[in-house]
Amino acid sequence: MKLEAIPGVPQDGDLEFVLATDKEFEEVVSISEGIYGGLDYLPSRYHSWVGEKDRMVVLAKKGGDVIALLSMFVVDGGQTALLEGLRVAPWERGRGVAGVLQRFCCQLVKHRYPSVKVMRLTRDDKLTPKELNKYRVIAKQGILLVRFNAPDLSARLSSLALTPGPSRPPPPILLTPDDVRDVFLERGGLLKDLLPNQTIIQDWQPFQALPDNHDLLLRKSLRWMADDVARPRVATLCTPPFPVPAGPLCFYLNIDVFGSGLRGAQEQLLSHLAAHAPSLPGDVRCQLFLPPNMWRPMADFCTSVLGMHLEKGYTDQYLLEADI
Ligand SMILES: CC(C)(COP(=O)(O)OP(=O)(O)OC[C@H]1O[C@@H](n2cnc3c(N)ncnc32)[C@H](O)[C@@H]1OP(=O)(O)O)[C@@H](O)C(=O)NCCC(=O)NCCS
Repeated sequence: MKLEAIPGVPQDGDLEFVLATDKEFEEVVSISEGIYGGLDYLPSRYHSWVGEKDRMVVLAKKGGDVIALLSMFVVDGGQTALLEGLRVAPWERGRGVAGVLQRFCCQLVKHRYPSVKVMRLTRDDKLTPKELNKYRVIAKQGILLVRFNAPDLSARLSSLALTPGPSRPPPPILLTPDDVRDVFLERGGLLKDLLPNQTIIQDWQPFQALPDNHDLLLRKSLRWMADDVARPRVATLCTPPFPVPAGPLCFYLNIDVFGSGLRGAQEQLLSHLAAHAPSLPGDVRCQLFLPPNMWRPMADFCTSVLGMHLEKGYTDQYLLEADI
C-alpha cells in the first residue's frame, strides 16, 4: 500500500515510502542478512509487527525493490514514538538513506498521532558528535552477551539446585500481572532507585513506568521477577525464547536486569534459565541488559559458575530521546 500524501511530507526523489505488509517479508529478510551479529529479532516479529495496533512499519523502495525499513511504535499513552528495526540494504548504505527514512517516519507519526511529543530509540553503536547533539541520553545499560548449550546448562542447573548454600538469598518472586502493575507501573517516584530514569527497557524497547503500558507489556508474555514486592531492590524480565538467524536451531533469550544486588539478580537469572533451558534444543544466545557496574561480576558468574561462553566484551546500550 502506498502511503497517502501527507501535507508537508514529500516522498523523497527516487525513494518511495510504503507501509509494509506480509508480502514483503522475504525482501526484508534478504536486506537484513548478517545484521545485529545474527541476533536479528525482526524475522520472528515481522508478521505481528505489520498488524500491531499503534505501530507503523515503513519500507523505502527504489525501483520497486525494498531497500530500507523502519518501524515507529507509539507507546506511553500516545506521548512517545519508538524507532525500531532500522536497516538499510547493504548496497545502499553510506548515502544517508537512514536519515531520510527517519525524517519521513517522524513526520508521518506526527501527522497520524498529534499527541506524540518525543521519539526514543536504543543503540549500542558509537554515536557521532552530530548525533550526540541531536539526542538526549535518557539511560544507559550494559550489554552482556553469552552463549550456551541448553541441554548442558539444564544438567548443570540441576546440580546447582541440589546445593542451596548457607548464604543464598531468599528465593525470588515470580510476579503476577497485577503485581507487575503495582510494582512497576503505579509507584511513580518509588521506582527511582530501581529503574533507570523510570524506564523499563525491555530488550531494546523502552517504556515509561506508566499504567498505559500495562496491556502491551502483558502481551509480551514476559517472566517478571523481583526480590520483594513491597520494596523491590532488584527485578528482572525475561522474554520467551525465540529463534534467531545466528545458526540452525539457535534460540535467543533476553533478560533485563534493574536495580542493585548481585546475588538477588543471580538467583533470578537461575530461575529464568531453569524455566526455559529444558525446552530448548541446543545453541542459545542470551543477552543480559544490566546496570553497568553489574556487568563484570555477572559475566564471571555466567562463565565460571554456569559454564557459559562470553561472546563479546562490555557494550553500552544507550536510550536516546529527541523532540519530535
Ligand atoms: C545503521 C544503518 C541503518 C545506517 O544506514 P545508512 O543509510 O548507511 O546511514 P548513513 O550513514 O548513510 O546515514 C546517516 C544518517 O543515518 C543516521 N543513522 C546512522 N546509523 C544509525 C543508527 N544506528 N540508528 C539511528 N540512526 C542512524 C545518522 O544519524 C544520519 O542521520 P542524519 O541524516 O539525520 O544525519 C545501516 O548501516 C544498517 O542497516 N546497518 C545494519 C543494521 C543496523 O545496525 N541498524 C541499526 C539499528 S540501531
